[in-house]
Amino acid sequence: MCGIVGYIGKRDVAPLLLEGLQRLEYRGYDSAGLVITGPKAAGLKMVKAKGRVRDLEARVPKRFAGTTGIAHTRWATHGAPSDENAHPHLDPENKVAVVHNGIIDNAAELRAKLGADGVVFASETDTEVLTHLIARSEADTLEEKVRQTLKLIEGTYGIAVMHADFADRIVVARNGSPVVLGIGEKEMFVASDVAALVTHTRQVVTLDDGEMATLKADDFRTYTTEGSRTTATPTTVEWEAESYDMGGHDTYMHKEICEQPDAVDRVLRGRIDDRFSTVHLGGLNLDAREARSIRRVKILGCGTSYHAGLIGAGLIESLARIPADAEPASEFRYRNPVVDPDTLYVAVSQSGETYDVLAAVQELKRKGARVLGVVNVVGSAIAREADGGTYVHAGPEVCVVSTKCFTNTVVAFALLALHLGRIRDLSVSDGKRIIEGLRRLPAQISEILTMEDEIKKLAKEYADAKSMMFIGRVRGYPVALEASLKLKEISYIHAEAYPASELKHGPLALIEPALPTVAIVPDDDLLEKNRAALEEIKARSGRILAVAHQEQEKADHTIVVPKNEDELDAILMGIPLQLLAYHTALELGRDIDKPRNLAKSVTVE
Ligand code: F6R
Repeated sequence: MCGIVGYIGKRDVAPLLLEGLQRLEYRGYDSAGLVITGPKAAGLKMVKAKGRVRDLEARVPKRFAGTTGIAHTRWATHGAPSDENAHPHLDPENKVAVVHNGIIDNAAELRAKLGADGVVFASETDTEVLTHLIARSEADTLEEKVRQTLKLIEGTYGIAVMHADFADRIVVARNGSPVVLGIGEKEMFVASDVAALVTHTRQVVTLDDGEMATLKADDFRTYTTEGSRTTATPTTVEWEAESYDMGGHDTYMHKEICEQPDAVDRVLRGRIDDRFSTVHLGGLNLDAREARSIRRVKILGCGTSYHAGLIGAGLIESLARIPADAEPASEFRYRNPVVDPDTLYVAVSQSGETYDVLAAVQELKRKGARVLGVVNVVGSAIAREADGGTYVHAGPEVCVVSTKCFTNTVVAFALLALHLGRIRDLSVSDGKRIIEGLRRLPAQISEILTMEDEIKKLAKEYADAKSMMFIGRVRGYPVALEASLKLKEISYIHAEAYPASELKHGPLALIEPALPTVAIVPDDDLLEKNRAALEEIKARSGRILAVAHQEQEKADHTIVVPKNEDELDAILMGIPLQLLAYHTALELGRDIDKPRNLAKSVTVE
């Protein structure tokens, strides 16, 4: 949420910053700005614009030379999207420039104090207080000015700071919002996400919370906010620069939907042990004795990851026979939960940055719980905070709405469930059956993707709906929840998801021809019960689109998907509904990769 990029070196900085911002735009896209300086630039030169990075680019003058700069793409928290509220923020003397991700909780108080001292604010943002505080610090070095300022701040931040009097450096700091340094040849980069770095360098250092860094063209050093030096060990980013490109697709969402066969193949690769009909998940840090002593599993995530967690809980219950449930991380930590030493907590997050999930992990760890992470981004905050876990290896997901990460996360949960199950009471033959099912997934997903034209026609048919109902039972219910979220977030059509069994308890009142229902109808032990729900809807003249393993007589349309093992069917049944949401949004002319009001990686509460 919000993207930062910075550079110090010898190259012309403005094009580099703009390119970095383009790659980070999925983190926020309501305004953008950059500030630069350099040997030939007198002081700091800034350009900002409400709107997209392309709007900023249009405002950057032709002659805008500089070799050091910081830039930002914003998702508004304090203050509406506007030129003034866009970052960077400069002090009145144009000496200090700050870009910031996160939220300063005591901003109102600090603004009042600074206002009483005669400071006039140019924006409504919380960030601007940082600029004034740094500018007013009497410390001798930029590092010390920033350090003194951070002592006054409550809240979360990833910041990058430039100062006209210290033009040979950029100072950055992290507390709760990611900051990654990119190490080049006589040049240094900083960004909130490796996406902005990989075209230039794959050698990175990820700052920890409470850490700062000074970047110079040919050198960098890291230290704590208290001033003691820290050891920065560079790591190599696994993902290739090309994985961030659109690869011939019209949107990232389409590309990421189509990548799912390969992505699933990747999460399975090297993990299956045919000899013992189990899987190896190296990073769990959980031995067999510990695995046997787990009494409950509690999965925590937000949005789509929470939905993946719901399917994961079902898999763990059915394969490992451990009571399991999932809960939105954002709710969990505010109800003062009882933390039980025999419960295994699992934090699930694509980005590994989501603040609500991270805060839940930190709270759990403070209370002595064991927490595993199921995460996509290697080395992300949640992955590092957890006691162990598994990566979902979906590759970078750029579209704001999650598709391939959802699928891979569910597959990762199937692996975890199989692993726990085989340590506990899952038989060899059931282990083998699940492994064979997992192996069939990539080809079956490819088969579903060949139905795209058919699904596109259906999307045209249903795109006029003002509202849609999604229903499913037990394993199908989280599929319905996820499909309804996908539809609403990119098409803006209102959608509700209900367990099919709950229809009679209220939502049936909504059914009429204008409210289509999407029904998840797997060929499992609940088939007849699901069919009964379709009858009830049809009796009220409701239109029905079924996702099923065979044509459904009561449905107006059926998308027939390949059958897998009952436990794994949910993985496949969600995929046509990603395409349905996609084509519905396309039909309605929506900005698919950047839906209104949203941003990827929600690093604020
Ligand atoms: C929806 C979507 C969001 C995220 C949620 C959690 O398509 O992508 O609901 O799933 O914000 O994000 P992560 O998984 O990064 O923790």
